[in-house]
Amino acid sequence: SQYLHTQFVGRNILHFKKIESTNKYAKTIANESVDGTVVIAEEQTAGRGRLGRQWVSPQGKGIWMSILLKPDILPTDAHKLTLLTASSVFNALKEYKLDIKIKWPNDILINNKKVCGILTEMSAELNKINFLVIGIGINVNIEKSEFGDDLKDKATSLKIEIGNDINRKKLTAEILNNFESLYLQFLKNNDISKALEIARNNSALINNYVEITTPQTNYVAKVIGIADDCTLIIENNGKIERLISGEVSLHTN
Ligand code: BTN
Repeated sequence: SQYLHTQFVGRNILHFKKIESTNKYAKTIANESVDGTVVIAEEQTAGRGRLGRQWVSPQGKGIWMSILLKPDILPTDAHKLTLLTASSVFNALKEYKLDIKIKWPNDILINNKKVCGILTEMSAELNKINFLVIGIGINVNIEKSEFGDDLKDKATSLKIEIGNDINRKKLTAEILNNFESLYLQFLKNNDISKALEIARNNSALINNYVEITTPQTNYVAKVIGIADDCTLIIENNGKIERLISGEVSLHTN
């Protein structure tokens, strides 16, 4: 589109009216598709979130897309691209002058409600990544009444917060423009400082208490910061620890 200024991200776009899941599709075509291919759907019939949850993706109301990447980086560095993606989305949304925050490592919140989720999936062997699929879901023009009772208090959309419809094509291009610029910097110099700065300065978690859920336990800790390797620094019972990923929810009371 006229708004896209990238070298390779989104130069090959596969656009579907309706598909099960753009992440799922991107994985099936990954081996024969070029680096930077973007799969976009108007509607997903089986959109997926993290931890096997479903992702509501009604027709024409959101940005449901997946970026296929084939980076020559270590599998252990892949999680950095999730935070880099969150920072790209944040940068594209900040012009709306809303109370927008990044909830490490993969959510964007407006007024403490989720507007965007990111699901990164990887195919790798030993020390080599075959491909990565970064799925981005943004609630753009969803009405409040379209969120079920379970989501009403937790989720929001740009339309709900701004009051009018948003141009999805333009926003999609801006996200891809931002993403590529941060991504090229990362590939070239292994430098994610810009993405980190955005994630640190606009964090929903830093200085707050969070509830951390792992398959083993469940505890409350204070978030101190985000480390240079993109892990979350927490204080747990006086001990400083780091989280690579996991379920972190804001602790209220
Ligand atoms: C989460 O917050 O749990 C992640 C949500 C990711 C949703 C996006 S929408 C496009 C892509 N395709 C999917 O099935 N999921 C991701």
